Amino acid sequence: MSDIFPKWTNRLPVKILIGALLLLGLVIVGLWYYFTPSYTRVGYTPTQPVAYSHKIHVDQLGLDCRYCHDDVDESAHANIPAASTCMNCHEQVLPNSPKLEKVRASAQKGEPIPWVKVHKMPEFVFFNHAAHVNRGVSCVECHGQVNKMEKVRHAKPLNMSFCLDCHRHPETRLRRPDQVYNLDLQIPQDKQKKQGKQFVKKWNIDASQNCSACHR
Ligand code: HEC
Ligand code: HEC
Ligand code: HEC
Ligand code: HEC
Ligand code: HEC
Repeated sequence: MSDIFPKWTNRLPVKILIGALLLLGLVIVGLWYYFTPSYTRVGYTPTQPVAYSHKIHVDQLGLDCRYCHDDVDESAHANIPAASTCMNCHEQVLPNSPKLEKVRASAQKGEPIPWVKVHKMPEFVFFNHAAHVNRGVSCVECHGQVNKMEKVRHAKPLNMSFCLDCHRHPETRLRRPDQVYNLDLQIPQDKQKKQGKQFVKKWNIDASQNCSACHR
């Protein structure tokens, strides 16, 4: 037998094994790189400097998103409220609560509370809130049920394929603009199908898939 195969072939299986392991390693690193952005962001729930709860303020007290994020339907950027907005109520409500110490200090000094950002687009992506919320795209599509959250959690991947999934089929998601802020609303599928198509037509919706719409 040893005459048929030259001697070096004895070491062949080891080489194949090492080669295969290297290849497997590369594939794992590649997949890791490819999937990391969406997977590490979903679930991100930083601890904030003040234990502000959307569940208390929106779900229980019934505040509208725009009481605090009042730029959301007027500009590209959704603002975080100043401490003075909180003091509209907390001047009287729980005025001595230690949990509101930082809010009182910020309002007094006129300095912002150092909230930790939860959602962040990379620099090379252009995004516009008003363009979405005034066209019947609800906060819940991109942020999940914030109204039920004690602490804001990054609920959706917000990566490129997430954006494009909706831009390809916006009719599956559009609702009446006055229902954009109602994060509990459930729309039956057949009704959505009908109203979605109507809104696309009525508002001349053209959710662009051109690279230059989001990368300018
Ligand atoms: C009483 C004021 C108030 C109201 C009302 C309010 N928010 Fe907020 N919101 C805040 C504050 C303060 C923060 C920053 C602290 C935090 O993340 O919890 C915030 C943070 C957020 C964030 C995360 C921002 C980031 O860092 O990426 C989202 C998303 C958000 N709010 C959505 C909503 C939606 C949707 C509604 C309505 C259903 C709403 N908020 C109503 C005060 C408010
Ligand atoms: C419309 C009035 C109103 C506004 C505006 C408001 N709050 Fe409140 N907040 C309340 C009420 C009422 C409670 C008490 C709820 C309860 O205990 O059931 C409360 C509770 C809290 C608590 C819990 C305090 C404790 O001792 O348990 C924190 C923290 C808080 N709010 C932070 C904020 C922050 C930060 C803002 C501004 C972004 C804000 N609130 C804006 C009405 C308001
Ligand atoms: C189509 C998706 C989409 C919809 C709909 C949407 N958002 Fe956002 N939101 C985003 C993205 C993406 C970011 C990150 C933006 C950035 O980094 O420039 C963001 C960021 C925010 C922030 C943080 C701003 C900051 O300065 O940190 C707040 C607050 C917010 N959104 C509130 C809302 C509210 C309230 C609504 C509904 C009225 C809403 N969003 C609807 C995608 C969306
Ligand atoms: C649930 C549906 C939905 C999601 C998710 C969504 N979009 Fe949109 N987008 C729309 C619709 C609808 C329009 C409005 C088209 C129109 O007015 O004709 C729009 C418009 C836009 C525009 C054009 C705005 C302008 O200036 O006219 C940009 C840019 C954009 N989207 C970026 C994004 C990015 C980036 C994401 C992901 C973070 C995203 N969108 C996620 C539905 C969506
Ligand atoms: C609807 C908005 C939208 C459109 C249209 C769009 N992109 Fe993107 N793109 C994004 C977002 C959002 C990200 C950031 C992804 C992340 O942070 O995970 C991104 C990221 C990228 C990246 C960085 C790699 C990555 O996946 O993170 C490249 C490259 C890219 N886009 C190229 C393109 C090209 C080429 C086109 C046209 C064929 C295009 N994009 C169209 C929203 C868009």
